[in-house]
Amino acid sequence: MRIDTPAGSILCDPWVNPAYFASWFPFPDNSQLDWESLGQCDYLYVSHLHRDHFDAAHLKRFVSKKATVLLPEYPTSQLEDELRDLGFTKFFKTVSDEVHELDGGLKVLIQALISPTDGPIGDSSLWVEYDGVRVLNQNDARPTDLASFKELGHVHAHMLQFSGAIWYPMVYELPQTAKTAFGKQKRERQFDRTFRYIDDLQASWVFPIAGPPCFLDDELWHLNDIHGDEGNIFPDQSEFMKEYPGSNGVVLLPGSVSTLTQTDCSTTHPTDPDEYFANKEAHLKAYRDRQRVTIEKEKASWSHPEVDVLAGMKAQIEPLLDESVYLAKGVGGPVRFDLTSPDGEVLESIVIDFPGKEVRVYDEEKVRYRFRTERRLVEHLLHIGEGDWVNSLFLSCRFSAARIGQYNEFVYAFFKCLSEERLQYAEGWYESQRPDAEDITMGGWTFQRRCPHLKADLTRFGIVEGKTLTCQLHGWKFDLSSGRCLTSVGHEIRSVPAASS
Ligand code: FES
Repeated sequence: MRIDTPAGSILCDPWVNPAYFASWFPFPDNSQLDWESLGQCDYLYVSHLHRDHFDAAHLKRFVSKKATVLLPEYPTSQLEDELRDLGFTKFFKTVSDEVHELDGGLKVLIQALISPTDGPIGDSSLWVEYDGVRVLNQNDARPTDLASFKELGHVHAHMLQFSGAIWYPMVYELPQTAKTAFGKQKRERQFDRTFRYIDDLQASWVFPIAGPPCFLDDELWHLNDIHGDEGNIFPDQSEFMKEYPGSNGVVLLPGSVSTLTQTDCSTTHPTDPDEYFANKEAHLKAYRDRQRVTIEKEKASWSHPEVDVLAGMKAQIEPLLDESVYLAKGVGGPVRFDLTSPDGEVLESIVIDFPGKEVRVYDEEKVRYRFRTERRLVEHLLHIGEGDWVNSLFLSCRFSAARIGQYNEFVYAFFKCLSEERLQYAEGWYESQRPDAEDITMGGWTFQRRCPHLKADLTRFGIVEGKTLTCQLHGWKFDLSSGRCLTSVGHEIRSVPAASS
């Protein structure tokens, strides 16, 4: 999406290259657009770090480094760091839920969602106003409600996700009838959620965007919604419009242009959308032919037979298990990985034993979850030091799964937190949700257990010298007598002398 106004243009989440082990492709194909000129924007907005929103190769090659990045207020600096690595130097750091006035009367607000279950620790929506016309690019963010946008006045265009962006239920090892039933429920829930958001905001026009992806590898072709499967969770824009009860929906294709005023919306398309979606299968097949070489090239890069997977998983995961309280307890049992050859033969079975805090060879025990995937994918994750297996392996849908009992959000939260910083953040987040957030006593002071910066566990990372507490995760300092943070504005700590506590 690119939002053009006389006061400047904002390019939002430009995604062109395949994501997640070459499984997801943008649909419809947008690679033919004139990216050289689309990339000459004044502002860049990347909503979050999921790879179907943050396309590093594309940002690097096509987006002007003179663009100012509109940065959501996230607890970690990972998005900014990754954009800096690509060559962006100008950042406008927004404060979540605050309207910012940019040059020429352009106003923006970015709402950042920061729970461990939002995106890869963080997802966001962008609200823009120019000359009394307001748009909300909600994208795939899931705020609890849209009240903070509504308060700013009537919204004219609401762009939001309506389709699936997950692996459930397709990868689960279930009888086909159950899979279809669960998929059907999921498809209906996705639409219902979208209808609720639309109804909540009451915008003049609604644009179903941010999905679905398409799957061009032969191994994943069945995931495209072209086989008449009512349990398919990836319905496209035209399917959504069949169910949408309103009359203000606008379907866009790559290259479509909508011109908005307070009272009108007119749209031009590069080709007739009805004709396009009526011939979806033929378009997908042609797209698949164009991308075969790319997929084969990607696949050839995954194998790293020199990687000792068990040792690699042990080295990366065991220290995190050791530090994990809430996530480990939440998972509550062993999780097994069966690693296979490309032909499906199991080469190795590894267990992550959450209660035992250990990664080891599977020992025939009962497990909470079992994942089955190609060994070379895990070799690749270890080879590149991937710290988020959701934003790589799981979203690729290149695995199957079985579980005992209900869906467990802690399992996937843990696999997005395979780095010290993320794990500490998630642990601290869960802790801060407790009504009786914990205090600790150290060096004569009683203070909150979690660091006010990124929630490191201060029983591990805190050092008290006199009145000063240093958190060793990033070196922030706090004056325990006043609770003031000595490193940054805000971020007070709750503390009292131990004797008086
Ligand atoms: S978490 Fe960053 S300094 Fe404590």
